[in-house]
Amino acid sequence: MRILSGIQPTGKLHIGNYFGAMRQHLSLQAENEGFYFIADYHALTSNPDPDELRQNSLEVAMDYLALGLDTDKTVFWRQSDVHEVVEFAWVLSCLTPMGLLQRCTSYKDKIAQGLSPNHGLFAYPVLQAADILIFNSDLVPVGADQKQHIEVTRDIAMKFNATYGEILTIPKESILESVAVVPGIDGRKMSKSYDNTIEIFEPEKQIKKKIMRIVTDSTPVEDPKDPDKCNIFALLKLVASPDELSEWNDKYRNGGTGYGTVKKRVVELMIDYFKPYRDKRQELQNNVDFVKEVLKDGAQRASAVAAETLEKVRKAAGLGV
Ligand code: ADP
Ligand code: TRP
Repeated sequence: MRILSGIQPTGKLHIGNYFGAMRQHLSLQAENEGFYFIADYHALTSNPDPDELRQNSLEVAMDYLALGLDTDKTVFWRQSDVHEVVEFAWVLSCLTPMGLLQRCTSYKDKIAQGLSPNHGLFAYPVLQAADILIFNSDLVPVGADQKQHIEVTRDIAMKFNATYGEILTIPKESILESVAVVPGIDGRKMSKSYDNTIEIFEPEKQIKKKIMRIVTDSTPVEDPKDPDKCNIFALLKLVASPDELSEWNDKYRNGGTGYGTVKKRVVELMIDYFKPYRDKRQELQNNVDFVKEVLKDGAQRASAVAAETLEKVRKAAGLGV
């Protein structure tokens, strides 16, 4: 099965990105044909700083490679190195009803957060559809917030096939419901735009500081607590073994355990979880030329597939000779 996903280089990757999306991407690569990319065209919708965009793209690449992306098996590239996708997006745009995009909640959310309502931001789901469809993807593993964009992709693909013939594969999303939303240190969804993240590779000391600062309610130590309403328990779920989790679950419900005690355990487990990847991350940081080579090679492999689809699309739409 062909699996495709992209992640925007809008800042340092955080544990919400990891548990909500990257971990799935990495585990799916063993049994499938993985196509993963750094969505810098998408990031351009919200970041006009060229140096930052270039640097963030490399940081994301290093994070993925350090965490185990296997470029022998998986095609890994920077979106803007495969231009075909932009031409394809234009063709799809011409088939996309305005109403479909007007209903997209992520556009409305971004405007509400203060981003300027530019056309790229509005057309964002069309470019995302082009990403997915140009590589004939079967399955798109993403976090829960991306579900609507995959539905839009399916709608556009069906419209395309109905108009021009059965050329495009209709994809499905894959969402790990168990980690639907990882909370940030303020209790809202962890997100670069809320400044509430714990970065995967930030210094361990800082990870500790942030976890110890996570907001909780003010239930006294001796009282029973509801694990399902607790931000720390939500993080514990990501890193504790099932046995340990069930012990903590009992401790919450029985009372007598303070949030500080749980926080300390989450710090240990979270730091241990990412420890094996830290050296590799540093090694890549010291060899950025290697990272650039990896991306270049990935772009060539991705381009070959994209060019083939685009050729069919151009022919079907009556573009060129
Ligand atoms: P951010 O909100 O930090 O800008 P992105 O929108 O770039 O993150 O998300 C990249 C991927 O990570 C998406 O698939 C998204 O669903 C997932 N993701 C981001 N934040 C979280 C979170 N807090 N919990 C679960 N998944 C998340
Ligand atoms: N919109 C996705 C996000 O914010 C990133 C993305 C761009 C993507 N193109 C994609 C994800 C194609 C999956 C498939 O997370």
